[in-house]
Amino acid sequence: MSILKGTKVTWLGHATVLVETACGTNLLIDPFIEHNPSFPKEFVLPKKLDYILLTHGHMDHIADAAPLAQKHASTVVGIYELTSYLTGKGVEKTIGMNLGGTVSLPGLDVTMVEAKHSSSMQEGGTIVYLGEAAGMVLTVKDGPVLYHAGDTCVFSDMKLIRELYAPEVAMLPMGGHFTMGPKEAALAAKFLEPKLILPIHWGTFPPLKGTPEQLAALLPDGSIVARVKPGQAL
Ligand code: NI
Ligand code: MN
Repeated sequence: MSILKGTKVTWLGHATVLVETACGTNLLIDPFIEHNPSFPKEFVLPKKLDYILLTHGHMDHIADAAPLAQKHASTVVGIYELTSYLTGKGVEKTIGMNLGGTVSLPGLDVTMVEAKHSSSMQEGGTIVYLGEAAGMVLTVKDGPVLYHAGDTCVFSDMKLIRELYAPEVAMLPMGGHFTMGPKEAALAAKFLEPKLILPIHWGTFPPLKGTPEQLAALLPDGSIVARVKPGQAL
């Protein structure tokens, strides 16, 4: 797809997205693999997995982060409390950051932006706080600007994300129940003005009822909603 300028973006079900930049940096966002009912079982991750980006600490976003980081010697990027937690789980290389910050990686900048959601883990009947939930903007050098919204409701400061970074591709949760649904995602699209929307966080579990078709029907141009199956690239 021409707006991606050689960067490959592959949806792996739920909020899990693989980004392979034209310059060869591979990033996996929110790895939920082994217990993800919508992960494409036949899909083989690239051996070289440079970075694992985490939007927040819920199990359906970090379940496979520590084992994958160990297997692929990946650096885990996330909000400070979450990367500290994962250091305690045996992850050796982390970059802890916070909202509004940008880290420069080979061939791209990663900016942590706001999301409206919670972030915690249950351990032995206790809730462990894992920092704020976030979104991630990937500004690929000589490539596209990609926005992964994480888990969130719609919020009007998405207009700031548009003003600051102008993402061409918006990966928006739209299943409802734990995040925004199609109605709210349509307003998010109005705020963000992306050229392409990758619907994520839908269809995985029965409560996530929103569909890409419902979102497309609510947009002036429904053709910007990508229709890909888990395992397919944009
Ligand atoms: Ni969540
Ligand atoms: Mn989630």
